Formats: sequence, C-alpha cells, structure tokens
Amino acid sequence: MPEINEELRKMQNTYEKILEDLPETRESVIPALQLVQKSRGYLPGDGLEFIADYTDTPLANVYSIATFYSQFYLEPQGEHTVKVCQGTACHIKGANEIYEALLGKLGIAPGEVTPDGKFTLTTVRCLGACSLAPVMMVDDKVYGNQTPDEARDVLDEYRD
Ligand code: FES
Repeated sequence: MPEINEELRKMQNTYEKILEDLPETRESVIPALQLVQKSRGYLPGDGLEFIADYTDTPLANVYSIATFYSQFYLEPQGEHTVKVCQGTACHIKGANEIYEALLGKLGIAPGEVTPDGKFTLTTVRCLGACSLAPVMMVDDKVYGNQTPDEARDVLDEYRD
C-alpha cells in the first residue's frame, strides 16, 4: 500500500522535525511528549512509537509516562478542554452535580469530543484551588464556587 507508506514517511519526517532540538536520550521523553502533543493536539500511537525509538526508551515506558500525567491526551481533544474537579473538597461541595449538568448540556460521554469539535469533558483529582470548591477549569481558566447553572453558562461563553 504505497499511499499508507507515503503517509507514514511524511509523519516520521514531521516528528523528526518536531524533536530535532532534543537529545536522543531517555531524559527527552517528557519534553518530546509535550512537543508532539503541542503539534498534533494529542499523542497518537505513531507519535508514541516515534518517541520511543528516538529516545531509545521501551514503548511501554513512554506509554506509562503519557498516561501518568494528566497534561497528556491519548485521544483527539475538542477545541476547549473542560475539567471538573472530583477531589474531596469539590466532591463534598457538589462537583458531581456540576459534572452531570455539563455532561447533559454537551450530550457526550466522559472523555468524548462534542460533534462540533468544540469541547472535551474530563474529571481531575484536584485543581489546587480547594478553597474555591467546587471548581471547574476551561482550558487554563479556573472557575470557582460553581453551581450547575453557572457551570452551564460558562460553556456558553466558549460557544462562539
Ligand atoms: S479538591 Fe477540587 S480543587 Fe482541590
């Protein structure tokens, strides 16, 4: 299948270019993951394989690192990533109701992207803003003391 090989070769060239300034060592795994994700929007399987080869690190280790840190995504993301905190402080103050309200508004399952490509909804263990519980985050912006209605309204700000 020459077309697939051509695609593969192009992608390899792209990854080579993305990583060209990094040393080809294990210490480069995390920066390489960051660079590939920045370029592709997530970490596709061929990107993880390329990083494993490039840094001479077993693929299983690269995969473990990519799944350990919440900053990395193995699936394509929506234009905006919405995170609802499920840590203890937020849980006690009603984070579940917020999460359910947002799932209902967006009509997606956890981790999915809305059909228009706008949003991905996920949960996190603690956003480090417990005094503002319950907390949600859209991209890099934190929204504290949320009610389900307020949380739904926040999403509308990102619709346009
Ligand atoms: S528990 Fe939600 S911000 Fe810490």
